[in-house]
Amino acid sequence: MSAPNLKIENLHVEIDGTEIIKGFNLEINGGEIHAIMGPNGTGKSTLASAIMGHPKYEITKGSVHLDGKDVLEMEVDERAQAGLFLAMQYPSEISGVTNADFMRSAINAKREEGNEISLMKFIRKMEEKMETLEMDQAFSQRYLNEGFSGGEKKRNEILQLLMMEPKIAVLDEIDSGLDIDALKVVSTGINDLRGPEFGGLIITHYQRLLNYITPDKVHVMMQGRIVKSGDAELAKRLETEGYEWIKEELGIEDERVGQQQQA
Ligand SMILES: Nc1ncnc2c1ncn2[C@@H]1O[C@H](COP(=O)(O)OP(=O)(O)OP(=O)(O)O)[C@@H](O)[C@H]1O
Ligand SMILES: [Mg+2]
Repeated sequence: MSAPNLKIENLHVEIDGTEIIKGFNLEINGGEIHAIMGPNGTGKSTLASAIMGHPKYEITKGSVHLDGKDVLEMEVDERAQAGLFLAMQYPSEISGVTNADFMRSAINAKREEGNEISLMKFIRKMEEKMETLEMDQAFSQRYLNEGFSGGEKKRNEILQLLMMEPKIAVLDEIDSGLDIDALKVVSTGINDLRGPEFGGLIITHYQRLLNYITPDKVHVMMQGRIVKSGDAELAKRLETEGYEWIKEELGIEDERVGQQQQA
């Protein structure tokens, strides 16, 4: 297998006629972890949902390619099959579907017919990953995310990530709601995946996650695009100084929360 490559070029995304993503560019290669930081409401989650094909998000311009293949042409399930994974900021609860069944069908959807993962192998792998994440095995038989605490949902997203072994993962605020010990455990899980065949995009507000998962690149997103990029040091500076200095540097006017500039 060759190293994966995700290429996002000049992406523009609208929600209900309002442009949220305004010319977003990013390339992630296997072996790399990128972090995106940025004020609330600047389009980080919108970007993640648009890449995964959420129907509410209309791509009006630009392209997304995974290993040279046009992602925007793919159906939502085809994107997962192609090796994309999204851990959502607010994971949904699915009643009536157990966590284990959900993951097993997701794994099998990526495999050819007749080559499904055996139940034994699946269970062994799930138990091993749950061990890594210090999760109670009982979570495998509960309905997906139903009644899970905030932190449990986040940990469960990472369990899915470890089970799916995608080429490129987008992790949206995977650290929010995690207690200090859970943050370390989850980071260990993600670090275990690091290697030439995996690329990650971590959306976070806090440097503390990046203490455990050192990013190769850090990007600041404002007003729907990347306005500054750097290495792990940039995240440290943001933690102490906030975003004002970047706004001043770029002459960006403050936007009220919820107020979107029309393009
Ligand atoms: N489904 C939607 N309908 C209407 N507006 C939306 C929808 N989804 C997002 N928006 C708007 O798009 C903008 C960007 O939202 P988004 O969730 O991408 O921000 P974010 O950068 O992830 O913020 P946060 O750091 O708070 O998670 C916000 O102004 C939000 O209100
Ligand atoms: Mg968000």
